[in-house]
Amino acid sequence: MSQAKDVLQTYQKYYVDRDYEQVDLFQLLKSEFAISHVIYPGSFVHISPSFIFQKVSYIDSDKNAKLFFQQEQQVQALIEGRKHYQETPSISFYSVDYNRTISELVDSCDLLLSQYAGFISESCKAYLKIGGLLLVNNSHADAGLAALDKDYKLIATVHRNKARYRISYSDLEAYFVAKGRTHLSKDYLHTLGRGVGYTKTAPLYLFRRVS
Ligand SMILES: C[S@@+](CC[C@H](N)C(=O)[O-])C[C@H]1O[C@@H](n2cnc3c(N)ncnc32)[C@H](O)[C@@H]1O
Repeated sequence: MSQAKDVLQTYQKYYVDRDYEQVDLFQLLKSEFAISHVIYPGSFVHISPSFIFQKVSYIDSDKNAKLFFQQEQQVQALIEGRKHYQETPSISFYSVDYNRTISELVDSCDLLLSQYAGFISESCKAYLKIGGLLLVNNSHADAGLAALDKDYKLIATVHRNKARYRISYSDLEAYFVAKGRTHLSKDYLHTLGRGVGYTKTAPLYLFRRVS
């Protein structure tokens, strides 16, 4: 199998076949917010942010992710073929544990992505500019953790109806009210490592870094 096929097939298998590319989600975010640099810790090979955003930095310690990104020309060609902008894509891949600070990324991004990969809101907060956005789901309790973090403010929720993403700015105070518990702590969520039940939920949340 050629290397080019490897890149295409790997991306196809994990993201196209699973209807989980999220290209339209990234498009929606670009149309709504000023975003220049995106950082995606725990990205695996989810390179669709680069179809919409010119500058994206990916961080993942998985060896298959490293092998994928090492095929630079094929990755670049895949992005070139799908991109929605004129400029040459700028992608960086860091094959490291995201808990280790990458100094050149500190205070550099306008959008930090956290999907199914642990406590990124905390470990990678320093990469996000004040005023920048965190897009996060609650699979690994990271959204719940951000909700307890005074450095973040919930500004919107993201929903998907009939395969279309939609951003909602309403009823935000109704989210992150835990079912059956009156008090949730960061320590509790760290120990649990997965999302707890809330009375009202969304597939994805948008927080702004406020301090
Ligand atoms: C379930 S996958 C999710 C991939 C991608 N975010 C998505 O939504 O398809 C989790 C990824 O996070 C990476 N990951 C988890 N903990 C990590 C860490 N501490 N440092 C770097 N990568 C990590 C794993 O290697 C894996 O590729």
